[in-house]
Amino acid sequence: MGVQDLRFKLYFLIVNLIGLLIFLYAVINIDLEQWYLYLFWVIIFTVIEMRPISLNNKGKFTISFPLSLALLLIYGTWFCVFVSGLGSAISDIRGKNGWRKVLFNGSQFKISALVAGAVYVKLSPPAAKGFVLNEQIVPFVVAAFTYLAVNYLLVRVIISLAEGIPLFNAIKMDLKISVLFEFSFAPIGLLMVILYEYTEPWSMLLLVPPLLLARNSFEYYLKLIKQARTTIELLADVIDKRDPYTASHSTRVADYAEKIGREMGLPYEQVEKLGMAGRVHDLGKIAISDDILQKPGRLSDEEFAKMKTHPKTGYDILSPLEIYKDLLSYVLYHHERMDGKGYPQGLNSDCIPLGARVLAVADGFDAMTSDRPYRNAKSGEEAVKELVKNRGEQFDPAVVDAFLRVWEKEGQTRGET
Ligand SMILES: [Fe+2]
Repeated sequence: MGVQDLRFKLYFLIVNLIGLLIFLYAVINIDLEQWYLYLFWVIIFTVIEMRPISLNNKGKFTISFPLSLALLLIYGTWFCVFVSGLGSAISDIRGKNGWRKVLFNGSQFKISALVAGAVYVKLSPPAAKGFVLNEQIVPFVVAAFTYLAVNYLLVRVIISLAEGIPLFNAIKMDLKISVLFEFSFAPIGLLMVILYEYTEPWSMLLLVPPLLLARNSFEYYLKLIKQARTTIELLADVIDKRDPYTASHSTRVADYAEKIGREMGLPYEQVEKLGMAGRVHDLGKIAISDDILQKPGRLSDEEFAKMKTHPKTGYDILSPLEIYKDLLSYVLYHHERMDGKGYPQGLNSDCIPLGARVLAVADGFDAMTSDRPYRNAKSGEEAVKELVKNRGEQFDPAVVDAFLRVWEKEGQTRGET
């Protein structure tokens, strides 16, 4: 058993043990006379949890957060612990999520609710009766933030341990879209409490429709982003497949580029951009005719001049799409060289964006290790030698070095020397 595996199991065990103890304590504290309230909110919580929105990177998002906050303030910490723990467990069991997920999700909800509840009680004025907005707004905001932070951290640690990703990167993955967006739902929890306290208790349910509307809009927004990306990548795949020699080329380039980026210690967002750019770097070949693309021999000067337009064409196609705006330069400059003899602009050294320099190495290696109409593929070792030979002239030395480390590590995995 590896150290990472041991850490994962230990963390899983500790979180679930704490979750179980908290739940047992919550069960002991149940007010049996109010069983109908527990039942009602467990059902509502379960239904909400059963409609999660998948985020880009492993995480999921539901709108149970404002509900948990409202339950915490109206009925107290143990009520919230019981309802959220049981509700998430039932939704996971119904969703056939596997016992590990059922246990862990339930535990992280219970721990988050308990810590947030403790923070809220600690910060609230000792004589507070009911909910007084002026006095309890600060404790509420801090408790809401604590709830999200604890919840998010517990999940990110397990993702980091399970996937072998540094914790900092796992935290950054969905931070913006998850925590910040979710935090904006906190006022709805607050409104539920105010409606409960100052009008008829049932009126808090009036907030369910706008909550659902916000949830559905968010889901639609994420779907649109995903669909735009999928469409463009499918198009890129079609272009790869026009030439049997380049099928899956872009997927491999994306894979190499991400690995190099990770090896260079680039921030998570940039590694993700490298993967996205790799998938579409040759999109501009859509405007190159089959005669040139599939020519079984060297290109004439005129044909090569035409071929050299593909980075700019790719750039033009991707420009209107918001999701590609930060990596347009990677696509535009992926054929530039360190010595300034590349195209389209003949940039040199550091004038070439780092992402484009990474793509150039990934692209160069895959091109050399793939068959072409006019030559056979080089072996991996031969292509590596070629990269080293052109280190500094064509390719960025730091990127080549990172690629060599990736290559060496992968060789070890494959059992090669
Ligand atoms: Fe290219």
